[in-house]
Amino acid sequence: MIKRFDEKTQQILTELEQTQKQFWNIARVSAEFMYILIKAENIQNAIEVGTSNGYSGIWLGKALQETGGHLTTIEYWEKRLSVARENFKQCGLEDTITPRQGDACEILNSLPDDFKIDFVFIDANKREYVKYFDILNPHIRVGGYIACDNVLSHKEKCQPFIDAINANSDYENVVLALPAGLSLARRIK
Ligand SMILES: C[S@@+](CC[C@H](N)C(=O)[O-])C[C@H]1O[C@@H](n2cnc3c(N)ncnc32)[C@H](O)[C@@H]1O
Repeated sequence: MIKRFDEKTQQILTELEQTQKQFWNIARVSAEFMYILIKAENIQNAIEVGTSNGYSGIWLGKALQETGGHLTTIEYWEKRLSVARENFKQCGLEDTITPRQGDACEILNSLPDDFKIDFVFIDANKREYVKYFDILNPHIRVGGYIACDNVLSHKEKCQPFIDAINANSDYENVVLALPAGLSLARRIK
């Protein structure tokens, strides 16, 4: 393992990787890819839809800690979110990550009109990806990114989102052959 983080964070990530299937966590290489991208692009304001136990949130949060940015992460299952909160605390991310409990569509719909986002990671209900996109779209800055996991492993469920983003000339979208398939869209206008 590449030694990127403090010992406690390394330990927690390694532990969480033992239960990856049970908590539906993203593959490590996909998390590493987003970690590098967030730092390279100096991302400031990020949203994650689908926290689970916080595995991907730790990676996003560590990158944002370096850019001085912030992550809001949404999960409707309180039991999972409380595990995530503890993991964020252990990794020193309480000031960088705001966990929000509730339904993603309800929370995203309540964002103020002037809430601007540089990076979104979508990893919740696959059939709702297109809904999350419709709600988030007005908030995405030009130059901002939307990453979605499982677009190959759950191709049929994610297809309405892929069709919508491909049809939208404000975005350029690629599907990366990372383990579950990660789509990455960049807002160009
Ligand atoms: C694939 S897991 C997230 C894994 C996490 N991103 C990671 O890699 O560590 C999806 C999570 O989204 C949550 N979820 C599904 N639909 C949701 C919704 N409509 N609103 C909020 N959370 C939702 C589930 O409870 C589940 O914990």
